[in-house]
Amino acid sequence: MKFFVDTADVAAISELNDLGMVDGVTTNPSLILKSGRDILEVTKEICGIVSGPVSAEVVAIKADEMIAEGRKLAKIAPNIAVKVPLTWDGLKACKVLTGEGNMVNVTLCFSANQALLAAKAGATFISPFIGRLDDINLDGMELIADIRTIYDNYNFTTQILAASIRTVNHVTEAARIGADVMTAPPEVIRKLAMHPLTDKGLELFLADWAKTGQKII
Ligand code: E4P
Repeated sequence: MKFFVDTADVAAISELNDLGMVDGVTTNPSLILKSGRDILEVTKEICGIVSGPVSAEVVAIKADEMIAEGRKLAKIAPNIAVKVPLTWDGLKACKVLTGEGNMVNVTLCFSANQALLAAKAGATFISPFIGRLDDINLDGMELIADIRTIYDNYNFTTQILAASIRTVNHVTEAARIGADVMTAPPEVIRKLAMHPLTDKGLELFLADWAKTGQKII
């Protein structure tokens, strides 16, 4: 499973990237707002750190304007994936932008039918939002499983990018189902390393080690 980090925080991206934990980055208008940075500047900086796909989202509503924004974003760096919303106009923009050789991430996907349309429009990535479905008492993981089945039935090559990941269990479940990629905030990725028995075990080992009076270095 590829790990994308869902943030425009350059310091956090850099730290995780140095550890080999970053296969790509996803941003959105809310994350750009949170960063307090200019979208073109911060996206360029991120593309200089990470060699994998970096999603940058259009904000237009009409297809032709999305295409114009997408072309401008794609010029930032060769590893830009233009992010378009899963609307009819977004699908039109996806078709044109992928036809021009760009990676396209179709975002705000909440149903299997939407995912089917994105694959037919040639999307590189489809982003089903797990957490936001869970927020309204629907099963986000069931959507990932449905999309996996449908894409496999017809050999669609669009990659399933499990998004809106809020918990470490979301990561495990998405991996078990076979999502190609997951994107999560840096704090969720860091939490994947945590286990209380690891902490307890380490504490015991260190206490016993102190009793030996030895040193390794
Ligand atoms: C994905 O590309 C989105 O940026 C993100 O995962 C949305 O997550 P949220 O629902 O926690 O805002």
